[in-house]
Amino acid sequence: MPDSRKTYPVRLILGMQWGDEGKGKIVDLLGEGTQIVARYQGGHNAGHTVRFDDETFILHLIPTGILRSGTLCLIGNGVVIDPDALLGEMQVLEKRNVRVEGRVKISRYAHFILPYHVILEKCLEERGESGRIGTTGRGIGPAYADKIYRLGIRVEDVLDEDRLKHKVDRAVLEHNHLLSSAYGAEEVAAAEVLDSLLRFRDRFRDSIVDVSGYLHRACREGKSILIEGAQGTLLDVDFGTYPFVTSSHTIIGGASSGLGLPIRKIDKVIGVAKAYTTRVGNGPFPTELTDDMGDFLRKAGSEFGATTGRPRRCGWFDAVVVSFAIKINDVDYIALTKLDVLDDLDEIKICTGYTVGDEVIGDWTETCAYWEDVKPVYETMPGWKQSLAGISSFEELPEAARNYIGRLEELCGVPMGIISVGSGREETIMRGDL
Ligand code: GDP
Ligand code: IMO
Ligand code: MG
Repeated sequence: MPDSRKTYPVRLILGMQWGDEGKGKIVDLLGEGTQIVARYQGGHNAGHTVRFDDETFILHLIPTGILRSGTLCLIGNGVVIDPDALLGEMQVLEKRNVRVEGRVKISRYAHFILPYHVILEKCLEERGESGRIGTTGRGIGPAYADKIYRLGIRVEDVLDEDRLKHKVDRAVLEHNHLLSSAYGAEEVAAAEVLDSLLRFRDRFRDSIVDVSGYLHRACREGKSILIEGAQGTLLDVDFGTYPFVTSSHTIIGGASSGLGLPIRKIDKVIGVAKAYTTRVGNGPFPTELTDDMGDFLRKAGSEFGATTGRPRRCGWFDAVVVSFAIKINDVDYIALTKLDVLDDLDEIKICTGYTVGDEVIGDWTETCAYWEDVKPVYETMPGWKQSLAGISSFEELPEAARNYIGRLEELCGVPMGIISVGSGREETIMRGDL
């Protein structure tokens, strides 16, 4: 896989399915020696796991690059920030001897998630019944809604205390009105919201920057930049399984608008896909397995949410979904994760299309009207029935594993440039030869 940092200074890593594809591991892996790692969307709904030296870290809001010394971490304007969650995450990292001070810069244009967003989301979810999204409960949707309503409080607002107080009073008034009159819910105290924002200011005053300007300068200087996506393409607010999506643009365009970086500055796009599929929360999932095989994948893959601990729904690899994600993001190559989870299976299925009644559909965008009715068409391949532990080159993989990867490449139309066979940094096959 041609991937010299000199040739491709700006790389984007994003999810090809419904999140939890193993982005954290891949960002950490490619982050070695990278000067800047930047998050462009989402918030602490993300849970990015990194394992090395028998230690496990789960990053929620802070870019995964924080675990690589010498890397600067940027939080872009497209991210929503819960001030207490950010402070808490920093404290946890510092306690574990990760140096954070001076290494995180935050866009002045990023918006805050505040307590009324969390309460509002809870009210909406409780009333939703069949339409319930199954969110992470972090207040993500209402915070983005406020941004679009032009009622949001932005990071730069903390720099002027009088203006901040004014904005908080207004936002709290509006939200309390809604919370009490529409939902009969608890109200929020403006003083508490203000206190939390002032704590944020005291800690981060010197970290508030123009992230876009920072990145433009870094590009001019030829610095290496890794852009870290959160969630996945099928959770994109427009192109995902709406309304069962998150509230941000997870796709490539979000990286541009969420960082103020022209899209043409992105040199390489790396899509992360699991060797099967998972989804946490509600919504369409054509290849979901609700039988023993689904339980097997959940157990073998430890498929429990890194943020909420919820069991993840599991199913076979869906080439229709991943091909769509490749197309919409112009992906150069795939990092295929968790291949080892399939080690013990006699047979492995791949979804190559869907049927709706008598009609066969091979393209994801055509399915939107029928999500609930599509039936996957499967191709079955033999399993390899041996452990992939310790394998570090493509040639060493059992033939059946190579065939499985080869078939995925044929169906998806891009190379699988990285194959992950375990959660650790070293449990990875880098295919430099492609
Ligand atoms: P992210 O949100 O995309 O960063 O993914 P998560 O961290 O939420 O979930 C991925 C999980 O799979 C984490 O627990 C990782 O440690 C683990 N993981 C990543 N790659 C592999 C792999 O190749 N094999 C196995 N067995 N686990 C992996
Ligand atoms: P990472 O970055 C998997 C899902 C939620 C829910 C929907 C909306 O770790 O891959 P939200 O709280 O965002 O409003 O919830 O999106 N979701 C994720 N699923 N991985 C994530 O992040 C997710 N972040 C949100 O479960 O279905
Ligand atoms: Mg995750």
